[in-house]
Amino acid sequence: MMDRSLIFAANWKMNLGPTEARRYAERFLSLTSPIKSRSLWFFPPAVSLGALCEATRGRADLRIGMQNVHWEPKGAFTGETSIPMAMEAGAGAILAGHSERRQLFGETDEYVARKTKAALNLGVTPLVCVGETLGERDGGRTESVIVRQLTPVVDALEPAEWNRVVLAYEPVWAIGTGKNATPDDAAQIHELIRMELGRNGVAVRVPILYGGSVNSGNVLSLLARPQLDGVLVGGASLDPEGWAELVGLS
Ligand code: PGA
Repeated sequence: MMDRSLIFAANWKMNLGPTEARRYAERFLSLTSPIKSRSLWFFPPAVSLGALCEATRGRADLRIGMQNVHWEPKGAFTGETSIPMAMEAGAGAILAGHSERRQLFGETDEYVARKTKAALNLGVTPLVCVGETLGERDGGRTESVIVRQLTPVVDALEPAEWNRVVLAYEPVWAIGTGKNATPDDAAQIHELIRMELGRNGVAVRVPILYGGSVNSGNVLSLLARPQLDGVLVGGASLDPEGWAELVGLS
């Protein structure tokens, strides 16, 4: 058992409606009990968030968050959910900059920065995702892409606010593909991200999760690298037995 603090974040994407979320919670709670220095985060679809919060009440090691929010508190933004509304339903975190939002829904680096700032202003934890595509990696642009993605966030935040931020490195080519970065690759990019933050005067030790085809077969070798502070998991978090097994492995 590793004794450092680790975050296990489940990104359900567009899976598990309210009824399934309740059923999932019941099963998951029956299989797990809180583990010291582990926190378990869930990002269900927005419509399932309230149900999941209610069904998991009383487990302080669990945090439920939104996959997407708008940075404005209210207004004419059809289809969007604001952070105060999400908080009222029980959200304690938000995802910002997931590659599917960036690639499929036009989420820009600036939007990511605005959401991150708004979350911090309102007191929920932003989990900010960065990562390069295969083309960018093959073109030797991994570092410049990550720096480009981080820069508006760095510009928007006071150095001390980084105390309340979590980052995730998710190489786009590894998400949902079954290909994951080797522990060495992941550790190297996590170091690069830390150096970039340090270069910008961020002295706090921001947790950095790794994401992209993490499963119970590879999670231990990834988490064996001290540069990784946890994992962000899509497909392998969708069934409560598999996710309970994965979070219990470390
Ligand atoms: P995956 O997704 O684990 O299914 O690759 C990870 C993510 O998109 O956060």
